[in-house]
Amino acid sequence: MAAAAPAVETGRRGIWAAIDERLGLSGLAYPVPAHANGIGYILGGITAFGFAVLALTGVWLAQFYHPTPGTARESVVYIMNVAPLGDVVRGIHFWVANIVMATVLLHLGRVFVTGAYKRPREANWLIGLGLLAVTLGLIFTGTVLKWDQEGYEALGHNTEMGGLLGAIGFWFASDFTASLPILGRLYMAHVVILPAIGMLLLIAHFLLVKRHGISSRPADHDAAVNGAPEPSRRGSTFAAHLVRMTGLGLLLLAAAAVLSIVSPAPLGDRPIPGTETTKPPWMFLPFYPFEDWFGLPALLVVPGVLFAALAAVPFLDRSRYRAPSRRRLFIAAGATVAIAAVLLVAYAAVTVPQTHIGGAVR
Ligand code: HEM
Repeated sequence: MAAAAPAVETGRRGIWAAIDERLGLSGLAYPVPAHANGIGYILGGITAFGFAVLALTGVWLAQFYHPTPGTARESVVYIMNVAPLGDVVRGIHFWVANIVMATVLLHLGRVFVTGAYKRPREANWLIGLGLLAVTLGLIFTGTVLKWDQEGYEALGHNTEMGGLLGAIGFWFASDFTASLPILGRLYMAHVVILPAIGMLLLIAHFLLVKRHGISSRPADHDAAVNGAPEPSRRGSTFAAHLVRMTGLGLLLLAAAAVLSIVSPAPLGDRPIPGTETTKPPWMFLPFYPFEDWFGLPALLVVPGVLFAALAAVPFLDRSRYRAPSRRRLFIAAGATVAIAAVLLVAYAAVTVPQTHIGGAVR
């Protein structure tokens, strides 16, 4: 019996060597700095894991969802009550979308605070902003798909925005084509256009992270700027990073599964055209008060200014230092925006919904 263990071990090594020879998996064990496994530096990976869960659960939901105005909401009811595991899968899809939104924002915050957008990572910061826009687009279109009062009002905003955009907003208008209701086109945006753009951006994002390596810690970076030896780029491996990322991703998946049971994904009443009684999901709430104060155009102007300001950050923050203590102005500006966003959400949460749009949408 004693000789069996080494034999099993040798057998395992043989299988691993055979797989590795064909798939090159050991190539994933390249060195990465130890701090890459810290929670702040793994948020992007957790987000990517979340997107994979959204894709898988989304494919299941698509087996039962029916994207026409007359049947969409009823097909969601079918998913909740009849489709196998439909309510849990829908709940996981809903909760993971919310979690991913939070991890994207935290990831952005980490990159901002550690000044990781500085040379040579300016392009990856801009690609990240593209990913943020895609994430918001996915949540927005997903909200419309439910075709309840909230989704219908979201669609109303979509078409009004299209009108405000003038000639370039034609795609968002209901009368873009008479052959397909706009719900069908937003469904296509949700399951094809936005995931495809997101996938391309994600590939570019990852290739650049690989190309530049994860940024060193700000204090180590600044010490090197002042002549200290370059910080070590070793300490862990990418394979270990992947394992940790998957473990944390599975934890979040478990949390989403529990949430989907204790607090199922909501579905509102059938829409009543011409009424406005709901508020948008939390990630859009910071913009909601501006709509109350200044009308619909604020929903184009305020996010536009915010994205433009974020895009400008790497080109305005030009010093070579990355420690927050040496970038007080930018940290103060970032903190002001973050605090303002929280206050606006709180304010929006307590206000009574107002009417901003009128008329029915086809
Ligand atoms: C939507 C999804 C996103 C995914 C899946 C994603 C994924 C990742 C991953 C896996 C990394 C490696 C290190 C880490 O996890 O921190 C990374 C790095 C980076 N990301 Fe993202 N990211 C996303 C959005 C963003 C956004 C919104 C921004 C900023 C506007 C951004 C900017 C960056 C930059 C500059 C780096 C390099 C950071 C460094 O080297 O320290 N990313 N991203």
